[in-house]
Amino acid sequence: MYRNKLADRAQLKDIVRLSETLPTPHIIIDLEMIRANFLKMRSLCSYADIYYAVKACPLDEIVSMLYEEGSNFDIASRYELDRALALGVEPERLLYGNTIKKAEDIAYFHEKGVRFFATDCENDVRKIAQNAPGSNVYFRVLLPHSDSADWPLSRKFGCSAGMVLDLISLAKELKLNPIGVSFHVGSQQRNLEIWDQALKATREIFDKSPVKLGFVDMGGGLPAQYNYPVEDLETYAVTIKSYIDNYFKGQDIRFIMEPGRSLVGDSGVLAATVVETSKKDNADNVRWVYIDAGKFNGMVETIDESIKYSAYFPSRDENAPSGPVILAGPTCDSMDIMYENYKMQMPLDLKAGERVYFLAAGAYTASYASVCFNGFPPIRTYIYR
Ligand SMILES: Cc1ncc(COP(=O)(O)O)c(C=O)c1O
Repeated sequence: MYRNKLADRAQLKDIVRLSETLPTPHIIIDLEMIRANFLKMRSLCSYADIYYAVKACPLDEIVSMLYEEGSNFDIASRYELDRALALGVEPERLLYGNTIKKAEDIAYFHEKGVRFFATDCENDVRKIAQNAPGSNVYFRVLLPHSDSADWPLSRKFGCSAGMVLDLISLAKELKLNPIGVSFHVGSQQRNLEIWDQALKATREIFDKSPVKLGFVDMGGGLPAQYNYPVEDLETYAVTIKSYIDNYFKGQDIRFIMEPGRSLVGDSGVLAATVVETSKKDNADNVRWVYIDAGKFNGMVETIDESIKYSAYFPSRDENAPSGPVILAGPTCDSMDIMYENYKMQMPLDLKAGERVYFLAAGAYTASYASVCFNGFPPIRTYIYR
């Protein structure tokens, strides 16, 4: 079985020991792993400023630690903004990266001192001009081929390159400061060539722009390690740099990146308890395994079986006999099935009450959990130090 980074680390045993003292479901985050990921990324990607995408895991401990290490932050809502400011992050280190925003939220960000806004449509540009006059705006371009990501972001955000050019003119007319272009290649993007396409599209916009641009926001997309090997960060860093050199060498342009998953994904372990195992018929050879975490409580990214976590049973021999299961959550909702086509292997004698750990569960897990669906409280997160 392919095992992710944390599975090879001695810390995993300590994390399990801590987890055993806590009720499930929960997530334990290894803060030092996030720090190491950040420092490594900063040194390998020194051509770009890092803005941590807070939405991936908005814990105060993570934001504070990254702030101390020098990170900036991509903020998605006024709630994330309030938390970042309360932790002492200066507004100059923040940008409002969500293209979907209310007029009053734009005004709120502006009042708090944020001056960088992403946008992708005429009405939004007008709202920014009215509620955050004179601000820096950058335009998210739609990347039609980025659905090769495990968690695509290719349809909802951005607009065509032609429309970006119109918006640049409009922004100038409305006395905003149009600074550049943003894109997101899709989260957990395994196809590095998408960055080539994105930077090429950005270059074309720069060439045709009615005003001089000098800012490129490359979004996220760098992967975490789930149940299959991915290229390492070095390969991503060097390859993206080669594309940048190809299109922008020697030019005075500020590049930024907004990593979420790649910084925090590998650092999290989601602990769950098996509620029951059963079959729908004695002749079936696939068992159903119901656990106390589910789609609404930590494992939302199993929608369409997009993100596939590795399961880990600390007290079992890795070669113990196992068989395929359908993995489902605890609620009375038949949507609450995590894996049905993808047959996870679990021990044949797995019983109710046993704990199962899912690795690389640091990103988009706790931050996506429902508030109280079916009465289940949202999954809790603990820091491992
Ligand atoms: C604007 C923006 N930037 C950055 C990210 C983080 O992307 P990733 O987790 O793939 O690094 C996201 C994710 O949704 C995003 O919407």
